[in-house]
Amino acid sequence: MFKTIIEPFKIKSVEPIYMSSEEERIALIRKAHYNPFLLHSRDVIIDLLTDSGTSAMSSQQWAGIMVGDESYAGASSFEKLEKEIQDLTGYPYVLPTHQGRAAERILYSYLGGKGKIFISNTHFDTTRANIEFSGAEAIDIPTPKAKDHESEYHFKGDMDLEKLESHLKHDAQRIGAVIQTVTNNSGGGQPVSMENTRQVSALCKQYGVLFVIDCCRIAENSYFIRHFEEGYENHSYRDIAREMFSLADGGVMSAKKDALVNIGGFLALKDQKLADACTNLLIITEGFVTYGGLAGRDMEAIAIGLREVFDDDYLTYRITSTRYLGEHIRKAGIPVIYPIGGHAVYVDAGLLYPHIPANQYPGQALVCELYKKGGIRAVEIGSVMFGKYDDNHQLIPAPVELVRLAIPRRVYTQSHIDYVIEVFEHIKDNLHNVKGMKIVKEPKFLRHFTAHFEEIA
Ligand code: F0G
Repeated sequence: MFKTIIEPFKIKSVEPIYMSSEEERIALIRKAHYNPFLLHSRDVIIDLLTDSGTSAMSSQQWAGIMVGDESYAGASSFEKLEKEIQDLTGYPYVLPTHQGRAAERILYSYLGGKGKIFISNTHFDTTRANIEFSGAEAIDIPTPKAKDHESEYHFKGDMDLEKLESHLKHDAQRIGAVIQTVTNNSGGGQPVSMENTRQVSALCKQYGVLFVIDCCRIAENSYFIRHFEEGYENHSYRDIAREMFSLADGGVMSAKKDALVNIGGFLALKDQKLADACTNLLIITEGFVTYGGLAGRDMEAIAIGLREVFDDDYLTYRITSTRYLGEHIRKAGIPVIYPIGGHAVYVDAGLLYPHIPANQYPGQALVCELYKKGGIRAVEIGSVMFGKYDDNHQLIPAPVELVRLAIPRRVYTQSHIDYVIEVFEHIKDNLHNVKGMKIVKEPKFLRHFTAHFEEIA
């Protein structure tokens, strides 16, 4: 009836934001070697670096923190979490971990190793790093429809089924797992359809290959299925997620996203033999089976968050507020991946700054500009994050130079988002003065976290 969709919560506790000046920020980003990961959070006005671990917990979750059972073995908080995950996923074996990548390390180091390959709609960076660290190879096969950033097609997170079948035909023995990342974070945060997942599942079954869902944003994905995939209009979000889990053999989750908590993760599996092998690794590196890498209170908060996240009003607010940011900056002439996904808006910095070539990292230039102009922190996910070097140390660029504006859950209000839109309007009016960047120091793995940059004069 009303067009304004309000935040479906009241604010009980607030955290002040320090309103820095542009002059201060120019000095601060220089001191941080032009890498926003190296800034102090107190110097950031709106932090869109990630939606991971940055959620505001509910009063129910905070109450859960107080009843957390901190026993080493047999904690009631684990029982609660295990039951919640079993009910949601249908998988009997639940391994708690301290975050998503710990679950990835356990599963993919066991399934991986030299000569193995993994196939995904798009591997997230920690997924790829864990697979490659085991000696295996990670291959991305997003749907070709994802290449068109302008079309209205709603499920650009899908996997390319033709390519999947070809890999399965030629290489089934070598495939450690097929991984559907839901939503497809590194592929523009785009949703994955049930139909595509059903077909991936059928192919994996036909060739006897393990099928895993990276489910950290599965509630957000369920929203898109209900509203844009035929036949799901009358399904609950939770039932849609359940159906998707039923198609796979296991799930890896970073609870820092759709479980609405600040830390946590899990691995959930159908097969006992695989679960036993992973449990051995869990005990060696994370902790005993009834806590993994978590405190009892964390497990309470995850169990509660996993239920809250499927609430109709919450998901409507969540997806429409992300869309609000995306649609408005698009209207202001900023090129974005369209349609807007669930947790983030992805800006095409290569198109925004055509005068900056890929080897001068236009995405890094934009994240620095966002910080200098508005105190907004965002993350480059172009050639800094995904670029590789050839044998002559020449950059092999990423397919597209993106910047991600990830929205923390239940943290910012509409006026915060309106401010971000205004900063973008300002950036649009000052495109030509922006310079490219060069890397002056970098580590071997996941270089975007710690690399140092300089502006090219
Ligand atoms: N899988 C996906 C799809 C992710 O987005 C992430 C984390 C992980 C796995 C790893 O989980 O951080 O708990 O170890 N993504 C964060 C982000 C870091 O900013 O997108 P983790």
